[in-house]
Amino acid sequence: MRIFVQTYGCQMNKLDSALVTAALKEAGFEIVDNEKEADAVLINTCSVREHAEQRVLSHLGNLKHIKESKPELVVGVIGCMAQRMGGELLKHPAVDIVCGPGQITQIVELVKNAVETKLKTLAVSENIRKSPADEKCLDDFESQYDSDEEQPPGQAYVRVMRGCNNFCSYCIVPYVRGPEVSREPKVIIEQIKRLADDGVKQITLLGQTVNSYEYKEGGKTYSLADILEMANAVSGIEWIKFVTNYPAEKYFEQICEAMRDLPKVCRYLHIPAQSGSDKILAAMNRKYTAEQYLELLEKARAIVPGIAVAGDFIVGFPGETDEDFRQTVELAKKARYRNCFVFKYSPRPGTAGERKLKDDVPAEVKRQRNIELLAVQEKISNELSKEFLEKIVTVLVEGHSKKPHLDGGNLQLVGRTDTDWIVVFEGVENLAGEFVKVKIARSSPLTLFGSLAAD
Ligand code: SAH
Ligand code: SF4
Ligand code: F3S
Repeated sequence: MRIFVQTYGCQMNKLDSALVTAALKEAGFEIVDNEKEADAVLINTCSVREHAEQRVLSHLGNLKHIKESKPELVVGVIGCMAQRMGGELLKHPAVDIVCGPGQITQIVELVKNAVETKLKTLAVSENIRKSPADEKCLDDFESQYDSDEEQPPGQAYVRVMRGCNNFCSYCIVPYVRGPEVSREPKVIIEQIKRLADDGVKQITLLGQTVNSYEYKEGGKTYSLADILEMANAVSGIEWIKFVTNYPAEKYFEQICEAMRDLPKVCRYLHIPAQSGSDKILAAMNRKYTAEQYLELLEKARAIVPGIAVAGDFIVGFPGETDEDFRQTVELAKKARYRNCFVFKYSPRPGTAGERKLKDDVPAEVKRQRNIELLAVQEKISNELSKEFLEKIVTVLVEGHSKKPHLDGGNLQLVGRTDTDWIVVFEGVENLAGEFVKVKIARSSPLTLFGSLAAD
């Protein structure tokens, strides 16, 4: 049996796909990298915006056609959309399996069952607001399989917590991933040690609100700062990153101090503001004001010299006026992000935003605001990138750059710095998974260009 796994969505989904892939391989399935050769297709899905779901639905439309001439093809939908839509998705003529993020532990069984019985199967959480599934079972699954599949050589994701309790009014995540649960420190560190033994050099700790990690054990409360300290002590690991942070006071200073004091912790903080208008932030159920947010950034910059900050914004949230948007632009200018993502508001079924607020900002206005905010950010990113000119940076090489070409006989390689800048440079051999020094000759808003520097 050959299986193709396609992944949409965030790092959580990439990690889940890696775990699913490893479990299927262990059970004797062959993993292929294209759909045409596959006997089964698993689509790991995202529900965060309508567009993400539409892409999956059109993919399923294609698979329906393929199944007309290849009826034995098994199609499984896993991930957030599976949990959100459940039985409704199972009715789709192309779909055989619907499996939520809390049920991926059952994936081998589900695929075998679909192949043998040809019956449609639904495996999702009945009461996701209470729990995604058996936490212990998920944790064991996570510890059992390597999570560096699908990652560039030498890199791996390590989940430190599942779920989210924040219920930002626009967001589907708490409804599809369940409540916040932090994993036991011992389990996390053992996993990092195993990955290091396998040659992993960079780990990225994952959580929807990774800075709210908290685990109580034997009278001690562990925060993310403690996890960073323990991870820093694992030999073989060189760089530690973590995403995504929620703007909150709790543990913030400790985490910044850990970043300052622990040599392996990268000086990169992804901490989305979402809006610069207090009125909109309140309507989003974000629990801070624009001023408090900027104070946090100031604190981080005071504690950690050279820290790079990144963010996300949503434009066109219900009720967002030109004045609200202007405040968002102001915040972006003050924040001076290394980069930020800008999303157009998309109402998600069942969220407070969708139930209580009218999606009243016209599509054209959302589009304009998106373009304007990106232009503001591009200017800032451009200025920040120029500071690297003629400097030597350390890069963890990921592999060939997206458009591989031979240029004067050299390979074009791509990697990232500790502050998450993308660096493109020429090399004579594929150095994926290695740390190299690159001298920067040219810059653009998102990318630095240079050549290998002598040590
Ligand atoms: N847990 C992370 C992010 C989760 S989703 C956090 O709290 O920051 C990733 C990003 O998608 C969010 O930061 C937000 O900017 C965006 N997003 C989430 N829901 C959205 C929606 N309904 N419409 C548009 N963008 C959305
Ligand atoms: Fe969604 Fe808010 Fe939780 Fe992030 S913190 S996952 S935006 S509910
Ligand atoms: Fe991630 Fe999308 Fe789910 S952003 S948690 S895959 S809804």
